Formats: sequence, structure tokens, C-alpha cells
Amino acid sequence: MKVVNVGLIGLGTVGTGTLRILQRNSQEITGRTGREITVTRVAVGDLNKQRDADLEGIVLSGDPMDIARDPAIDIVVEMIGGDDIAKEVVLEAIRHKKHVVTANKALIAVHGNEIFALAEKHNVAVTFEAAVAGGIPVIKAIREGLSANRIEWLAGIINGTCNYILTRMEQDGLGFAEVLSDAQALGYAEADPEFDVEGIDAAHKLTILASIAFGIPLQFDKLHIQGISEITIEDIEYAKELGFRIKHLGIARSSDAGIELRVHPAMVPVDRLIAGVNGVMNATLVQSDAVGPTLYYGAGAGAEPTGSAVVADIVDVVRSMGDIGENSGASPVPQLGFLPGSMPDRQIVPIEDVETAYYLRMKVINRPGVLAAITKIFGDSDISIATILQKSHGANNTEVTIIMLTQIALESNLNQAVTHIRKIDSVTSEIQSIRLENLA
Ligand code: NDP
Ligand code: HSE
Repeated sequence: MKVVNVGLIGLGTVGTGTLRILQRNSQEITGRTGREITVTRVAVGDLNKQRDADLEGIVLSGDPMDIARDPAIDIVVEMIGGDDIAKEVVLEAIRHKKHVVTANKALIAVHGNEIFALAEKHNVAVTFEAAVAGGIPVIKAIREGLSANRIEWLAGIINGTCNYILTRMEQDGLGFAEVLSDAQALGYAEADPEFDVEGIDAAHKLTILASIAFGIPLQFDKLHIQGISEITIEDIEYAKELGFRIKHLGIARSSDAGIELRVHPAMVPVDRLIAGVNGVMNATLVQSDAVGPTLYYGAGAGAEPTGSAVVADIVDVVRSMGDIGENSGASPVPQLGFLPGSMPDRQIVPIEDVETAYYLRMKVINRPGVLAAITKIFGDSDISIATILQKSHGANNTEVTIIMLTQIALESNLNQAVTHIRKIDSVTSEIQSIRLENLA
């Protein structure tokens, strides 16, 4: 039986999970590929670190380029993260005619167009299932399973750390910082957790999903990005009272105006399936013209869930290899689902032109005329109010919190209304606004 030699670059959370699965399930994997897949080399940052992995027979190196250039290696698996060294290593591996598997969404979202062009030139595969939604094979599902469909929109909980934090805040009443450190300890968070909580990681993933769904180039710089750091337990409680749950969503939607690409917290009706996706679990809901809605659910982060997607990519690459060493047969499936340049250019809709309903929360001094002044501003901005709640505070109800839900409104009108409301003397707090997404 022919042997496929794999070099792992990075042996952290994902690298360790990947190695463990390749070792534990070698019989099944060989049964599925007809090849023996062996990890012969691993590169790490710190050669002296204690490893929770069986490294017998594996050559450890401190320089990832050793693996990218090693003529004996067939597949390079990049699991170090970031887009500097990772990019150099991946490009070097491709130049050396190696197939590449990566879990790195930042790399694909920001440099994917360049990487795929080089891979095409050298006739090698670059696969990245683990880059989006951890262990859920959502890329394969959209790119291959839904290839008959015109996709209308997709909406996903695609950052496990954010979902874990929002869930623990709601279920355990814990504060943001406390829960974030738990997510880090569990290996869910990025090296810089700001990437998670400020929405950048989800934006990397949405960039990739949107490309695969709509045949548009990867264009991370065009996304509207908001994280969850401004969400308070108060908002979570009011959402519950109103029949919603706050989720951090990535939304890509095709309309006559173009493609909406946005990542932000959103209130979702509590009876939607996606509202029940908790903890580190991810889910992506895809609305397509032929099949209708489909939902993909599973673990969005962690060692073995992510390792599962990495190993599945290795299996795909091995299946598409001809005689090993000749690098024949990069997969016939285009990396991003569509042949480059095969779809018309679509404009990305500016966020000011997006229409959604809103939840708004503000504190005001409890005196006659304040509510009337606020509602007048909404009327003048062409925004209809759907619901108003008022909660009293203070010994003599001197201050009240006003919570409003609007009907669907244009984002620029909402911004204009908020700017005017801020100028009312009786408004004593910042105005919290969260989009409502019906996802029907
Ligand atoms: P970790 O920080 O746990 O692991 C990174 C690994 O890369 C470590 O083994 C580190 O070495 C190694 N490394 C760093 N710099 C170098 C270098 N210059 N040369 C060689 N090795 C180096 O990260 P994760 O495993 O969490 O993430 C890896 C990738 O997977 C990232 O792109 C991330 O976005 C992605 N991902 C992560 C998921 C998760 O659940 N954690 C889920 C899906 C994707 P050392 O061990 O010596 O420090
Ligand atoms: N930090 C990422 C998350 C890892 O929390 O979803 C999985 O991509």
C-alpha cells in the first residue's frame, strides 16, 4: 500500500486534535482512502514544551519551512494561525508542489485569492473545511451538497467563543470577562481573543462562506463587523422578556441591491432552531431556491471537532491524488465552489442601506413629554415603533429605562434618529441598539 506523508505545522489545540485522530482512527482512514497516512514531521514554536501527544517516530522541528520544502512530504497541514508566517509557509509549500490543508480562516479570508491562484498554477489542492464552524462540514455542504441551488441568504452562529460567552451570561448570570477566560482555557478562543469578541473571526468565516455561496471574490475588507463586547446582561434579560435570544450572527444575503455582508449581535425569536444553539456549538442556516432552508449544526471549536474537519480534508486530498509524488489530481471541485470569474460582479451593499428591525434601550429622566419627543424623532425619521416597554428605577421612579422595538427600518434612518435622540437633555445613557433578525 502506498504511504502518504503528512507534515503538521503547529501542535496546539487543533494540531494535537488532528494528530490524535489520525493515530486513533488510522484503520478507518486507510479503509476510506486506500492509503496509509503517516505524520512524519511536526513543526512547533517551542521545541522544549511538554506535548500531550504521541510523537513516536515523528521528527520535530522548530522551522516550519523545513516541512514546506521537504521533498518527502506530500501534504502540509498549517495549524499555527495568523496571516504572516502561516502565509509564507503555505505559499512555499505550494511552490514545492505540496497539497495544503489549513484551519486558518484569517489566512484564507485575507489572502485566499492569492493562495488559490498559486495553487492553481502548481496544480495542488488547498483545503480549509476547519476554517469555518470547526467540526461542521458546512463548506462541503454549501460548495458540493447545494451546488444545484441559487443561494438566497445564509445566517450563522460561526464563532464558538461568542456563543459560549452569550450562553453562559444568559444561563449562569456571569460577567463577560469571567466567561471569556473560561473559553480561553477550553482552547476555543483565538490567540488574540479580541478577534473573537469583536467579531473579526466570524467576519473571516463569513467572507469564506459568502464566496462559496455566491461566487464572489473573498473580500474581507467590505464586511460590516460588530462584536459582543457591548452586550450586557440587561439586554439579554430584556431580550428574553420580549421573546428573543441574543446571538452573534454572520449574515450574507443576496438582493437586487447586491450582497449584504454583516457580522453583529442580533435578537432572534426564541422559537427559531438557531436560537437554541448554545455553548460552543455553531449552526449555519442556508436559504436556497430549490431545497429551501437547511441547517448545519455541531461543535464550532475545540481540539477534536476541529481536527475532524482537518482530517476530512486530508482524506479528500488523498482521494484526489494520483500516484503519490506526481501531485496529479488537485480536486476537480473549485476551491470556492465556482470557477474564478464565472459569476457576475456583485456590489457589497453599504451597511447604511441595509434594512432591519431594531431593539433600542436607553435611560431617561422620568418627566412628561420625554417619550413624546423620542417617538416624534422616530416618526420624522420614517421609523415605525412596534413595541415600547418602560422600566422604573430610583426611589421615586426618577429615572426609567425605555426599551423599543422598531418595524423594519433603513439603517441610515435609524442612525439619524439615534443622533437626534442623544441630544435630548432627558436622555441620560448611551443608546443601545441591536438588530432584530427574524430568519424566517
Ligand atoms: P494554538 O495557539 O493552540 O496552536 C498554535 C500552534 O502553532 C502551537 O503548537 C505553536 O507552537 C505553533 N506555532 C506558532 N508559531 C509557530 C512557528 N513560527 N513555527 C512553528 N510552529 C508555530 O492555536 P489553535 O490550535 O487554537 O489554532 C490553530 C489554527 O486553527 C488557527 O488558525 C485558528 O484560527 C484555527 N482554528 C482554531 C480552532 C480552535 O478551536 N482552537 C477552531 C478552528 C480553527 P507551540 O506549541 O510551541 O507554542
Ligand atoms: N476562535 C474560534 C471560535 C475557533 O471561537 O469559533 C473556531 O474557529
